[in-house]
Amino acid sequence: MTPPLDEALRALLCTMPKAELHIHIEGSLEPELIFALAQRNGVALPYASVEALRAAYAFTDLQSFLDIYYAGASVLLEEADFHDMAWAYFQRAAVDHVVHAEMFFDPQTHTERGVPFATVIQGLARACARARVELGISSELILCFLRHLSEEAAFATLEQALPWRQHFIGVGLDSGERGNPPEKFARVFARCRELGLHLVAHAGEEGPPAYIWNALDVLHVQRIDHGVRCLEDPALVRRLVADAVPLTVCPLSNVKLCVFKTMAGHNLPALLAAGLCVTVNSDDPAYFGGYVNQNFVETFASLPQLTRQHAYTLARNSFKASFAPPEDKAHWTAALDSAFAAAA
Ligand code: HPA
Ligand code: ZN
Repeated sequence: MTPPLDEALRALLCTMPKAELHIHIEGSLEPELIFALAQRNGVALPYASVEALRAAYAFTDLQSFLDIYYAGASVLLEEADFHDMAWAYFQRAAVDHVVHAEMFFDPQTHTERGVPFATVIQGLARACARARVELGISSELILCFLRHLSEEAAFATLEQALPWRQHFIGVGLDSGERGNPPEKFARVFARCRELGLHLVAHAGEEGPPAYIWNALDVLHVQRIDHGVRCLEDPALVRRLVADAVPLTVCPLSNVKLCVFKTMAGHNLPALLAAGLCVTVNSDDPAYFGGYVNQNFVETFASLPQLTRQHAYTLARNSFKASFAPPEDKAHWTAALDSAFAAAA
């Protein structure tokens, strides 16, 4: 049971404007939508019902989640499916006062099943454009390479993506971390860097601090996704602070995947105290028990040392760490200041 949270703080956490920088769009696929798309596309699922699928969401580590996550994504076949998935996320994000989202997508999960890259990106880009017009949410796409696959497969994916260069701002690295260190993708990331793409990578979720070092020094990433294991290495923390490298932390994900046993044991307060540019994100909200506000609420409820000032810092960091233009960051930060002033 999560302890109660001060009502005023809860309201502030939920209504403050925020950016979400670590959301895998395939991880926003709710069981209801998985079943609806399976029916629409005539895809057979190995689960009898929405409830049976949800009951399977009991994970012991990253890989146990990924097996179910890739199975869920198998219902995505048409452009409309990718649009509908992202549009559902945006509607949910609007409720949580997300004003900007930088969204990961995993093209190889789809192209390996014979879905054309164009189908994936056109559906996602259409939802992004619609979110801007109908919800006032700005968004960008970040293409993730699956690190359990080969360097060659990543290069082939990059080739397929380049005709759609205007629809994504950067690349990332996700999937099973252990045994797939960043340096496996050194040459792909070097090429992406030459192309002027933004660079991020999952590191230090299950993998050791060495993976964070190599994401920085070999891949030259601008943000670390997760990165919670950095605290095991004081020299690494000094480096991340000195270079103001943001960490996109996902507390509910960390507890669901057993990176931390309980939310009360999460190291978010220690990361903040170390002066790291930490943000709070949902990772795979349909699988991990909630969207971004749920992450804020459960984290603050379980860690009472977190205060209103920390809430401000986390939201402020989400804008600072984003790849949005400076004028947008200034605008959102002013709105954040107003929200806090109004709640004083
Ligand atoms: N880690 C690695 N790969 C992923 C994740 C994650 O949390 N979510 C979706 N793909
Ligand atoms: Zn992730």
